[in-house]
Amino acid sequence: MPTMKEIYQHHADAYDELVSHEDYEKNLSRFLLQHFDFSGKSVIEMGAGTGRLTALYIEQAARALCCDGSSHMLQRGEENLASYRDKLAFRVCDNLDVGELEGKADYVVEGWSFGHTVIDHFERAEQIVEQLVMGCRRLLVEGGTLIFVETMGSNREEAGPPREELAHFYELLEHRYGFQREVLRTDYRFASPEEAFRVFSFFFGEQHCQGLVERNSSIIKEYTGVWYWRG
Ligand SMILES: C[S@@+](CC[C@H](N)C(=O)[O-])C[C@H]1O[C@@H](n2cnc3c(N)ncnc32)[C@H](O)[C@@H]1O
Repeated sequence: MPTMKEIYQHHADAYDELVSHEDYEKNLSRFLLQHFDFSGKSVIEMGAGTGRLTALYIEQAARALCCDGSSHMLQRGEENLASYRDKLAFRVCDNLDVGELEGKADYVVEGWSFGHTVIDHFERAEQIVEQLVMGCRRLLVEGGTLIFVETMGSNREEAGPPREELAHFYELLEHRYGFQREVLRTDYRFASPEEAFRVFSFFFGEQHCQGLVERNSSIIKEYTGVWYWRG
């Protein structure tokens, strides 16, 4: 079973298969497009991966710079978003180097990526969150908006941060940096219970598959948090 890091370096196809089944009710795209006006706007996206979040706003946006630490993931993102190639630029960039990016944008966004960075460096979590948030704020034009999308749990009944490191991250966003939060249902739907188990367990590992076989369902519950801050 590959680690998440190995998946991001070598298994973009398997990752992409997983996320293509996510949020079958389209609650995240509905929320983003109802609450934020991307029309004609510029976006800088960190941890863009294979472009799942990018795909939700790029039709409206004027342009986006998609960054990620993995060129392998970005390559798949470039393929997925090929019909928008005129609006897109791709750059290999670590999240912790966000402060070194040049340019400004109306929106700086990230999806399910900064959480990894906080977990990877949890011994200095407060410094890392400061670096991420202030690095992103620096890139905003006046009046611009930050949007961070992170997990509030997969294959569980109630929404909540699945790890203590993420709980601390979310708490800092809300109480130290003034982000507002919205929690959405973003359930996965697969063609069959067998496919659900195969695709979900490849990414999350069998230890996070409790009850999947017994429930024998093609749907896996998931919750997603959207944290946003308007400058
Ligand atoms: C769960 S995926 C999310 C990808 C994409 N945002 C999406 O919505 O599907 C996490 C992504 O963050 C990237 N990543 C993880 N740690 C990173 C870091 N320190 N710097 C830059 N990218 C990182 C991975 O390569 C991967 O593409």
